[in-house]
Amino acid sequence: MADLNDPIPAGRDDWWRHAVVYQVYVRSFADSDGDGIGDLPGITSRLPHLAELGVDALWITPFYTSPQHDHGYDVADYTDVDPLFGRLSDADDLVARAHELGLRVVVDLVPNHTSDEHAWFQAALAAGPGSPERARYLFRDDPTDRPGTPPNNWESVFGGPAWTQVDDGQWYLHLFDSTQPDLDWRNPEVPEMFEGVLRFWLDRGVDGFRVDVAHGLFKEASLRDQVVEPGGRPASGAGEMVERNVSDEPMWDQPEVHDVYRSWHRILDEAGADRMAVAEAWTQTPESMAAFVRPDELDQTFNFAWLLADWSAEAFADVITSTLAAVEGVGAAPTWVLSNHDVVRHVTRYGGGEQGLARARAATLTMLALPGSSYLYQGEELGLEQVDVAPEDRQDPSYLRTGEVGRDGCRVPIPWAGTEAPYAFGPGAGQPWIPQPDDWAALTVGAQATDPTSTLAFYTDALRIRRGFAWTAGEEVSMLDLGADVVAFERGPITVLLNCGTAPVELPAGEVLLASGPVDGTLPPDTAAWLR
Ligand code: NOJ
Ligand code: MG
Repeated sequence: MADLNDPIPAGRDDWWRHAVVYQVYVRSFADSDGDGIGDLPGITSRLPHLAELGVDALWITPFYTSPQHDHGYDVADYTDVDPLFGRLSDADDLVARAHELGLRVVVDLVPNHTSDEHAWFQAALAAGPGSPERARYLFRDDPTDRPGTPPNNWESVFGGPAWTQVDDGQWYLHLFDSTQPDLDWRNPEVPEMFEGVLRFWLDRGVDGFRVDVAHGLFKEASLRDQVVEPGGRPASGAGEMVERNVSDEPMWDQPEVHDVYRSWHRILDEAGADRMAVAEAWTQTPESMAAFVRPDELDQTFNFAWLLADWSAEAFADVITSTLAAVEGVGAAPTWVLSNHDVVRHVTRYGGGEQGLARARAATLTMLALPGSSYLYQGEELGLEQVDVAPEDRQDPSYLRTGEVGRDGCRVPIPWAGTEAPYAFGPGAGQPWIPQPDDWAALTVGAQATDPTSTLAFYTDALRIRRGFAWTAGEEVSMLDLGADVVAFERGPITVLLNCGTAPVELPAGEVLLASGPVDGTLPPDTAAWLR
């Protein structure tokens, strides 16, 4: 692999340990054919942007054959590319070009459920109750004591019951949309199929996998009712998508799931010590998060506690210390993430506007100095905010099931250049699948690339400076006490300060390597700095 961006010490295979990984939401990154929907050749054509930005890898959301009811997270064929996004050869070209540019490629794997258009589910419907085809999913009869009602009280993460009844009266479980039937991982055919899928993509040269709903594959075998009590924790199904107060989760984070990751660990190892997997596991505690990255399981797991933390020095510092303690216990590297395609963009979470952007840049700078890897979500390097998508343009299945604003607002296509929509998202004037705001002219990659004060320039600087210390500053973090409003820590030669308060903070002695906003002897509120 070329080393254009590669700060990874020679001889190390665990490139992900301190990597910056950029998430590409395939529909919304770049469109090559003018249909208004991003695609694989579009991504390939824009890889130089990622190389110049200075990330180490990209993670691409699902581009497999899919009816797109959940925009690709409903897979009908795991080993082919949806025509909407291109062909298998386009995936090969993308991987090859990324590797030429020194970028690793992580693809998404969706093992919890298939699409209802997957051949297995179609066969299950046709074969009827009691058949081996139905046994690949979680079909159940009416409960004998409550005829005509679903087998248990579980709710879909996207709202409404987690069960749908078919014509012959049986119900099937879907923790997400009704077009996403859950597989029965206790049926040996299921792990066998996914081992084949892993090998298929590893053979095509991908460097890793992001495992969707990694905490969900096994349900408590009894499929008993969930105990719902007021005042519990928010459901860990999918972060901000749901706000149900439950602490009893018979559908998530069952112990059996870890055997799956032990077997995948072996498959990844066979393909090469430099292949990895990162879990999307919404767990309840740092310790249950760390269980996914024990030495014989997956390599990384998203640290959603960081993204869920409020704007407060105490909250950020707590997440840092509890995360480091939890992953250190199992010898894994921590990860950090502030935005993805499922949550409100962090500029908006922190209040939006100038203050939201200042805070977002400050939180980002803080995260990028921590040991471990950081995951960035496309568009955050442009400082994009959540878009208020008009009801008629919303497409998120959770919106369609509940009428509540869903995740469309963080999925608006990227503005590349120009002064009006589609901002060079695709060729010509064809409009993208979700309309872009008409005030994005100053936010395009083209506009920001030439402005040294832009958020894009800030990210580029941060990643360049980070490459100078990411692998040498060590894993050790010492928290400093600079008052209740300041997150402060040292990592090797680097000192990091984040001011979450309302008054400026005296800067300690040292050279300011980079700050997230103007600094002048003091660190203003909503600002972070790296010092040496
Ligand atoms: C998590 C994915 O990130 C989300 O977008 C998707 O809707 C669910 N898993 C279901 O696959
Ligand atoms: Mg297209």
